[in-house]
Amino acid sequence: MNVQYPGNTLENFWMPFSANRDFKENPRLLVKAEGVYFWNHQGDRLLDTCSGLFCVPLGHGRKDIADAVANQLTHLDYAPPFQYGTPGAFELARLISDITPDDLNHVFFTNSGSEAVETAMKIALMYHRVRGQSQRQRFVGRERAYHGVNFGGISVGGMVKNREAYGLALPGVLHMRHTWLEENRNTPGQGEHGADLANDLQRFVELHGADTIAACFVEPIAGSTGILVPPKGYLERLREICDEHHILLVFDEVICGFGRLGTEFGAQAFGVTPDMMTMAKALTNGVIPMGAVAVRDGIYDTIVNQAPAGGIEFFHGYTYSAHPVACAAGITVQNIYKEEGVFQQAADLAPYFQERVFDLKDLPVTTDVRGYGLLAGIDMAPEGGFGARGFAVLKELFQEGLVCRMTADTLILSPPLVSERSHIDRMMDTIKAVLGRQ
Ligand SMILES: Cc1ncc(COP(=O)(O)O)c(C=O)c1O
Repeated sequence: MNVQYPGNTLENFWMPFSANRDFKENPRLLVKAEGVYFWNHQGDRLLDTCSGLFCVPLGHGRKDIADAVANQLTHLDYAPPFQYGTPGAFELARLISDITPDDLNHVFFTNSGSEAVETAMKIALMYHRVRGQSQRQRFVGRERAYHGVNFGGISVGGMVKNREAYGLALPGVLHMRHTWLEENRNTPGQGEHGADLANDLQRFVELHGADTIAACFVEPIAGSTGILVPPKGYLERLREICDEHHILLVFDEVICGFGRLGTEFGAQAFGVTPDMMTMAKALTNGVIPMGAVAVRDGIYDTIVNQAPAGGIEFFHGYTYSAHPVACAAGITVQNIYKEEGVFQQAADLAPYFQERVFDLKDLPVTTDVRGYGLLAGIDMAPEGGFGARGFAVLKELFQEGLVCRMTADTLILSPPLVSERSHIDRMMDTIKAVLGRQ
């Protein structure tokens, strides 16, 4: 490896969601990636246990994706997306609507999951407004939810550290209880207990009036907080309440989408169809930033048909919405998913992965294990303050050759969908040894 560690140049980059001072004393620099592996600046090979940040399901360094990006860059690097269109945007929207459930057939592009959430919130407000229901301005989110870092997202989100420093955020946002329940501890897949937690939404309807609520946002599986799988019947009950009261149900599929649960989206895994879905990450296999919102025909038609001929219907968009290079990456990635049967591959690997993950539940340090598809969360008993043990374990796992994702004291696993059993074995053997020493 001929990449030098630039020892005196770490100061200027303010790292996101990172312990900057600690990192700069003892950096974990990743300088190369291929397949399911990273390499650090010292030349050590490390296994990627979280698909980057849930975004690289096909593994790293796919030449076909790189070629598509390079071709696009030399053919049409950029074009304005307002009042002009590029062919790739239409093709990618078609490919996405092929795998969304039912009539979620219209796709609005953004550059990230956070922007997708903000966009979905605006679509919800706009939809109700043009139906003469502009009083529907409340949003419902959930404790422990993660919907990105912008102000709408932290408002419907429920991860305390992401909100507490940033003032009051959006007014009128209500939070349902999270779905972690003692009774479901160490249950593989969906827990038996907790469908009734969805009735929190019904209570908001009764307290505030259904006609003040625009939309209810949930992740099918709450990911960043540590993989909270919905209890059996929970999402179905949310759907029922939303239907009864004309509240839009939004699934934030940024982690669950594109095969992570062995199906196209969380919606198909749990058999519940939302009115909108936000997505990002695996949309382009993480190589170019991109997000999207898919909406039902009725939402698109309502907003688009209300405007005067020649008028802009939805005053929203980004300079880089449907960026041609992101679209080129996205089209190639979507075609690979289909042609190589990647979602089925994930479904086939999932039982073995889950078996190995649940093998950790008897370690003294483990307090709960949860999982579904190729996603898992392992809670460790905290020691030395919030997140201290988690951070120490993250560093130890890195020393042992794993790149991992930790939220406080919860280890989150989300291996590439193309992983083989031998990769799962290597990952789980190492984790078991490291956690076993705690
Ligand atoms: C469910 C969910 N929504 C939104 C986001 C935000 O996505 P981004 O980091 O691309 O803005 C994430 C990121 O992890 C996520 O997990």
